[in-house]
Amino acid sequence: MIITLSVIKADIGGYVGHSSSHPRVLERAKECIEPALASGLLIDYHITRCGDDLELIMTHQEGEESERIHKLAWDTFIECTQVARELKLHGVGQDLLSDTFSGNVKGMGPGVAEMEIDERAAETIIIFMADKTAAGGWNLPLYKMFADPFNTIGLVIASNMHSGFSFEVHDVKESKRITFDAPEEIYDMLVFIGAPGRYAVKAVYHRETKEIAAVSSTQRLSLIAGRYVGKDDPVCIVRSQGQFPAVGEVLEPFATPHLVQGWMRGSHHGPLMPVPFHQANPSRFDGPPRVIAAGFQLSSGKLVGPRDMFDDPAFDPARRQANEMADFMRRHGPFEPHRLPLEDMEYTTMPHVMKKLEERFVAI
Ligand code: F6R
Ligand code: MG
Ligand code: MG
Repeated sequence: MIITLSVIKADIGGYVGHSSSHPRVLERAKECIEPALASGLLIDYHITRCGDDLELIMTHQEGEESERIHKLAWDTFIECTQVARELKLHGVGQDLLSDTFSGNVKGMGPGVAEMEIDERAAETIIIFMADKTAAGGWNLPLYKMFADPFNTIGLVIASNMHSGFSFEVHDVKESKRITFDAPEEIYDMLVFIGAPGRYAVKAVYHRETKEIAAVSSTQRLSLIAGRYVGKDDPVCIVRSQGQFPAVGEVLEPFATPHLVQGWMRGSHHGPLMPVPFHQANPSRFDGPPRVIAAGFQLSSGKLVGPRDMFDDPAFDPARRQANEMADFMRRHGPFEPHRLPLEDMEYTTMPHVMKKLEERFVAI
């Protein structure tokens, strides 16, 4: 059975500040999506949130980039923005960069990750959702899952994974893409994906079968809007088990937190902390950045789940370590490498300050 899984998300207003979402916004989203289930447009849906981001998880048979599905998501965000406005939540309609829908939400602010798949006998899916970070944040975990045998032993000892995976990498500044084959081209690939502010892994494919293995949202809102509108707070869908990494191999990269761009004012490096759903409320210095993992089994497109995959004491050390990393980074205050390099900051007073002081700069 051919199924499309669409995850479309937007920050349409935060509660309190940018830390979390208001329950009434989620209720409104359910009311907006429910009729699409009754009409048969959707097979199933699940609505959740990570921090201040509203996440619409939908299954259907309309294919990727379907106008009907994207319009449903867009209309839902508009309706939810209305609730956010009534409650005077913070940053109302933050990610909706346009007044009118033009066929596809891409480039309009919301983040999108979609995959059309031929549902397997057992279709295990993990959906990662992050807040206070950008799409490049998935580069390191996706590399570990699909190219690093120290993370994924299946690459070595499972015959259906042994020929490796290919990575589609996007240059988010120049809107170009390239595909690398792992393991042969990992050194070339790492030159690019090791610079996650510019190059983001968009998708991963199983090389033998060409099947889609993972897909992420790579929107960079600041580049779309040309001004600060928040980090993209990306999502990533990963297929698991069988010819794909096992659930434990998919989750393992998050057991050792890495530094990502985002956090306060989208202008800092900080650890990506894996948390259970109820802890996805970044509050300390508006962070540190969070990631949640929703696990599902698909059953003819029905979303059986979610299971809260980071709700496991085995991830307690990662959370503790992320807090220690956060303390260490915070000690730097306004200094790099806690603060992002000038060109990557989402907020900057530099042009203004520079203009004011221009004449005081003298040649040395
Ligand atoms: C980062 C983020 C927050 C805000 C900060 C200031 O992605 O959402 O750290 O940048 O709270 O928010 P404003 O400018 O809305 O007052
Ligand atoms: Mg926000
Ligand atoms: Mg957010």
